Formats: sequence, C-alpha cells, structure tokens
Amino acid sequence: MRKGILSLTAAAAVLALGLTACGGNSGPTSSTSSAPSTQSSQKAGKIGVILPDSKSSARWETADRKYLEEAFKAAGVAYDIQNAQNDKTAFQTIADQMITNGATVLMIVNLDSGTGKTVIEKAKSQGVATIDYDRLTLGGGAAYYVSFDNTKVGTLQGEGLVKCLTDKKASKPIIAELNGSPTDNNATLFKAGYDGVLKPKYDSGDYVKGPDQSVPDWDNAQAGTIFEQMLTSAPKIAGVLAANDGLGNAAITVLKKNNLNGKVPVTGQDATVQGLQNILVGDQCMTVYKAVKKEADAAAKLAVALAKGEKPTASSSVKDPQSNQDVPSELLDPQPIYLDNVKDVVADGYVTKEELCTGDFAAKCTSAGIQ
Ligand code: BGC
Repeated sequence: MRKGILSLTAAAAVLALGLTACGGNSGPTSSTSSAPSTQSSQKAGKIGVILPDSKSSARWETADRKYLEEAFKAAGVAYDIQNAQNDKTAFQTIADQMITNGATVLMIVNLDSGTGKTVIEKAKSQGVATIDYDRLTLGGGAAYYVSFDNTKVGTLQGEGLVKCLTDKKASKPIIAELNGSPTDNNATLFKAGYDGVLKPKYDSGDYVKGPDQSVPDWDNAQAGTIFEQMLTSAPKIAGVLAANDGLGNAAITVLKKNNLNGKVPVTGQDATVQGLQNILVGDQCMTVYKAVKKEADAAAKLAVALAKGEKPTASSSVKDPQSNQDVPSELLDPQPIYLDNVKDVVADGYVTKEELCTGDFAAKCTSAGIQ
C-alpha cells in the first residue's frame, strides 16, 4: 500500500496534546486509521483533518467525523481526524504533528483566520496540500474550499423568521439577532444573508431592529447570558434570529424562564437533534439542514485525489475577500426545515428516529409523520 504511515500511538497523542490542551474541556479527541492494513508500526495518516470543537455544534463530532471517516475508509486511504476542542494552541500542535507524521493533505476547520493561515502556510511550505473545510480561512491561501452556500443559509434563516412571524400575525415585531462567532467567516456570510432579508423590513418600518450581537466562539453558554441581557434591555423582543441551533437553544432556555417560549419564534441551523426537538414542540420555528454527508464526501473526494498526487478540479470558485484570490470550491445547497419537513432530515439518515423521538417527543414525531 502506498508508503507506510506511522500511526501516532494513543499514548503519544495523549501526551503531546495534554501539554497544550486547556484545562476545563475534555481535551482534543482523535481517531486515526492506517487503512487498510492495521500493523502497529506504520506512519500516521496521509490525510489529516482538524475539527474545531465539539460544543459549538453537535455536527462536528456526530456528523462530520462520521461521514469523513466513512469516505476515507471506503477509499482505503490512511487518515487522522482530530478535534482541537476550541484550543488554538492545540490546533497548531495537532497540525504540526500531522505533518511530522507524514500527512500529505491537511484539511482544517479553522478556529479563526489568523491561526488557520499560520497552519496553512506552514503546511504549504512543506509541500502538504491544503483544504479549508466548511470555513474559509481569510487570506489563508488554501488550495481548495468545501462548504455550503453560506449566504444562502442566512437568507433561508431570514426568510424563515419572516414566515414564522407572518404565521403568528406579528405586528411591528422587535427582532433580536444572535450572530455566530466574529472570527468565523461563515458567521459573516450568514449575517449578510439574513440581514439582506431583514434590513428592508427594518427600513420600511414593518419590523423593529432590536439588539444585535455576536457570540464569541459560538459559545452556547455565553449566548444564554447575552440573550438574557437582550431580553432585559428589550423585553418585547418578538423574534430571534439565532445563527445556529445551539444559540437558538440558549435563547429558548431564557424564553422558557420568561414563559415566552413558543410565542417568540427562534431560528437555527444544523438540524441537530436538540434543534429538531425544539421544532417538534414548537419552541423553535425553523432550522437549516446542511447535508453534511455531501460536504464530507466532496471534501474527501478532493483529499483522496490529492493524497494520490492528483490535481483535482473543483466545480466553482470563491473569492477570498482578503487576498482577492479565487479559491477552487465546492459549495453545497442548504435546505430550510420547518415542523412539516422535519421528517425529511430523518429520511435522509442525518438523525435517527431513535435519537429524535425519545420520551415525550415520540407523540410529536408521530404527528409530524416521522416514520
Ligand atoms: C458552521 C455551522 C456551525 C458553526 C458552529 C459554522 O462555521 O458552518 O454549521 O453551527 O460553525 O460550530
């Protein structure tokens, strides 16, 4: 099989990462395979993937890791997927280790463009091919970018909120915006999308612009505190544009304490089990489903080709607004999810009926037509 690849032993990985991981979180996690053979003395994965964290969204560990692993296994290539657990120092250490251990392709979900750029530049200087996965590293110069049409994600959120407010016959609703991390280019694109829908409504006086704040690192706990302050400063908030399901759930938790859940529509993104359950009970108005399997498959296809020394072509390109360079890209199509099509997410295999329809949710699942 291609050149043997030395696998980091679990002990070495734990030791190396333990030195850099911050206290207070569960520490970086990894999964390595030297597929297809399993001797203990090969070199590390040829394709290295660094996921950002496991708390800002359930997707990274439950969907991205799973689908990437499946794709790499199916292609029979060696890989090493690790999670930086929102630790920028660990992120860089993991990248260095992957390169030292023989990765020839590095796929990253950056924690911010600055550290992402450092990692990409180092990789490139050592002849390692680079892919920005889901988040574009501004000014980073990765060879490829694979994501969804993120402005469209935001447009769907804005349209979703409008639909839910219209259904509630809300008059001159005050809107709160709970944006994603200011260091995530996706958050900028989501906001451009939903503000494109909401701003004309503010300008015409149909809607009233309320508090509008970013949540550092997409931190769900901070989102709760921020939303609590928003509601104190503007108790009549009548609609919440939350940029993902985690932020949405943080707002819903606060709304519940104030007996406002279900009365104030909240948006989301990622079609997480929690987000879908919030939709089933009527506390969340919509989410945006991004078929992560397609994203993982598209990225894996590029990575596998690169690992084989090929120069794959991408179907489109995105202009990096910082460097003004065109980055060859694959951009997938997001889909809005309301109560009536939650079942589509289950039918697509993204979440299972077993995990979604637990306890009191079972009856809601039945009425939502979830098989
Ligand atoms: C991703 C979202 C995710 C968020 C927080 C964004 O870059 O596109 O799917 O919810 O990060 O992890």
